[in-house]
Amino acid sequence: MTARTPAAAGSLAIDGGRPIRTQLLPYARQSISDADIAAVAEALRSDWLTTGPRVTQFEQELAAAAGSTHAVAFSSGTAALHGATAAAGLGPGDEAITTPMTFAATANAVLYVGAEPRFADIDPGTLLIEPDLVAAAITPRTRAILPVDYAGHPADYDALRRIADAAPSGPLTIIADASHSLGAMFRGRPVGTLADMTVLSLHPAKILTTGEGGAVLTDRDDYAAHLRRFRNHGIATELAARRDWTYAMVELGYNYRLTDIGAALGSSQLHRLGEFLGRRREIAARYLERLAGHDLLDLPVVLPGAEPAWHFAFIQLRLDRLRVDRGAIYHALRAEGIGVNVHYIPVHQHPYYRDRFPGVSMPVAEAAYERMLTIPLFPAMTDADADDVVAALDKVTTAYRIA
Ligand SMILES: Cc1ncc(COP(=O)(O)O)c(C=O)c1O
Repeated sequence: MTARTPAAAGSLAIDGGRPIRTQLLPYARQSISDADIAAVAEALRSDWLTTGPRVTQFEQELAAAAGSTHAVAFSSGTAALHGATAAAGLGPGDEAITTPMTFAATANAVLYVGAEPRFADIDPGTLLIEPDLVAAAITPRTRAILPVDYAGHPADYDALRRIADAAPSGPLTIIADASHSLGAMFRGRPVGTLADMTVLSLHPAKILTTGEGGAVLTDRDDYAAHLRRFRNHGIATELAARRDWTYAMVELGYNYRLTDIGAALGSSQLHRLGEFLGRRREIAARYLERLAGHDLLDLPVVLPGAEPAWHFAFIQLRLDRLRVDRGAIYHALRAEGIGVNVHYIPVHQHPYYRDRFPGVSMPVAEAAYERMLTIPLFPAMTDADADDVVAALDKVTTAYRIA
């Protein structure tokens, strides 16, 4: 590890010492330019506020950027996940395998359509779903796999595809929860081309934002048509294609439409996708370089052939060498002005899931949860901001080292 900054010396801010930063550095922050604001203002002055031509344009641009045939925009990533589980045909009696190391929305989308989520534990270094454990969790009722590209690192889609194709009830549908990973690459192929359906969240903390929003990327025309109906009450005829007042509701759907206001923001943001990803990767590389070899921290593992999008960065504490738990380190870092967070409380440990699916044990995810911290990462961060994070991590963990 590189030399400590002078700021690393001194007593902890939580004990009354001088903080590394006086203003909290958040863990995530949207990047809004004047061009973004102008694009939204133009949408507001146009004839369309709800779903109109800007949504269609955004969908075409997003599909082109991601390398997929279709992009179907939704009002949130959660709605997009719901659309994907419905388009995959999941329903009562079916099971879908997902990771416990995600936001509850991933597993909830399986429940929304009446199917049951089954969890497969994760790899301790990448915190990605472990393909061998997916294979072990398959039953005759399994219909789908929902990997999550944790922190922007693509899951091992090659291994998952082999497992999906070989399943007795297969081929299983792979729905990638790529809420963190727009722009990531896996063995030379972009996220958006690695799964049957790829779900994005376009929430402000994510790689690209439409305010609230989400999308499903797919090469399959039938999935795309289903997704478009599903987000619009199950109505078969898109507004633009209607000749008169008639329309046909052919299945039960929802109002999960993105607005033209959000789409205008999304299209404008897409111009900077390369810039966003480049800066995220620079900051992640700086962390990995400056924290390399730190004996109180384990760093994220990046698999050969993976180019993560780095929605966030994380570290895992060496609790065996510290005399306090993660909670104490979290509060001490916040006192130093570093907006750390925790992603995620394993889904099966939420009270709702414990009640509904008692006795689920995911030892790797549970152990990772006890020692993980998300550290700040967003495109507008400076190198000096990143160095403050490094200094604070070192200052706090060193102060709590077991003598
Ligand atoms: C992994 C994951 N899945 C799903 C979602 C849900 O996305 P949204 O907040 O856009 O509904 C999120 C966002 O927090 C997420 O991080």
